[in-house]
Amino acid sequence: TAPARDRLRIAIQKNGRLAEPARSLLTACGLSWRQSRDKLFCYGESLPVDLLLVRDDDIPGLIADGVCDFGIVGRNELDEQGAARRRIGLPDAYQALRGLNFGQCRLMLAVPEEWEWTGVEQLAGKRIATSYPAILADWLAERGVDAQVVELSGSVEIAPRLGTADLICDLVSSGATLAANQLKPVETLLESEAVLAGPVRTPDDARAGLMAMLLRRLDGVVKVQD
Ligand code: PRP
Ligand code: ZN
Ligand code: MG
Repeated sequence: TAPARDRLRIAIQKNGRLAEPARSLLTACGLSWRQSRDKLFCYGESLPVDLLLVRDDDIPGLIADGVCDFGIVGRNELDEQGAARRRIGLPDAYQALRGLNFGQCRLMLAVPEEWEWTGVEQLAGKRIATSYPAILADWLAERGVDAQVVELSGSVEIAPRLGTADLICDLVSSGATLAANQLKPVETLLESEAVLAGPVRTPDDARAGLMAMLLRRLDGVVKVQD
C-alpha cells in the first residue's frame, strides 16, 4: 500500500487532444498552479492539489500504483489497460468516475477503401494492426473470429500500406487520419470520451476529503457545460 499523503495528485496528458481541455476543466474547478507549461510537476496554489503532466498511456498505471489519485484520460486507454490486466489475472485497480463531455472518439476497425465490407467473418486469418490489443482480442474472441493482432504503439494507419497488416483498429475522431491513409471505418468496438479516473478504493487520509470536494465541484462544472 502507498504511504499516506496530504496533497492530492492529478495526472493529465502533457500534449495531445486532452491536454488543454483537461487543464481548463480543473481551472474551472478552482485549481491553480504557478508553474510554466514545461514543468511536468505543477504545485497547487489555491488548494493542495498538484498536477502531473504525463503521456496519456501512463495515467492508468500511475493510478494503479497509487502515484496519482485522479487522472483525466480517454475511456479507451482505461478500458485497454483494464482488459490487459484482466487477461493476466490482475485485479481492477482504477475506475472511470465521471464522463467529462470532451475528447469524444470511437475505437473502430478500418479497412482499405477498396475492400467491400461484408461483416466480421471476413476477418478470419487477417492481420489487424492496433494500439489496443487487449480490447481487440476480447472483441474478436466474443465473436469467435480467429485473426492476428499486430501491436503498434503509433502510426497504426500506415500498416496496411506497408504490408505489415491487412486492416487496423484505431481511434477515429474527425476521420481525417483514416481518409488521408485511404482507409474506411467499418465496425465500432468502443465509444470513448475523456473521463475522470480514480482508484477503486479511496485513500484513508486527508486526500479523501479533497477527492470528494473535487468531485462535487466537477459535477457542478460539467453539468453547466452541457
Ligand atoms: C488518435 C488516433 C489517430 C487520430 C485520429 O490518436 O490514433 O491517429 O487520433 O484522429 P482523427 O480521426 O481526428 O484524424 P490520439 O490523438 O489519441 O493520440 P495518441 O494515439 O498518440 O495518444
Ligand atoms: Zn496515447
Ligand atoms: Mg494515435
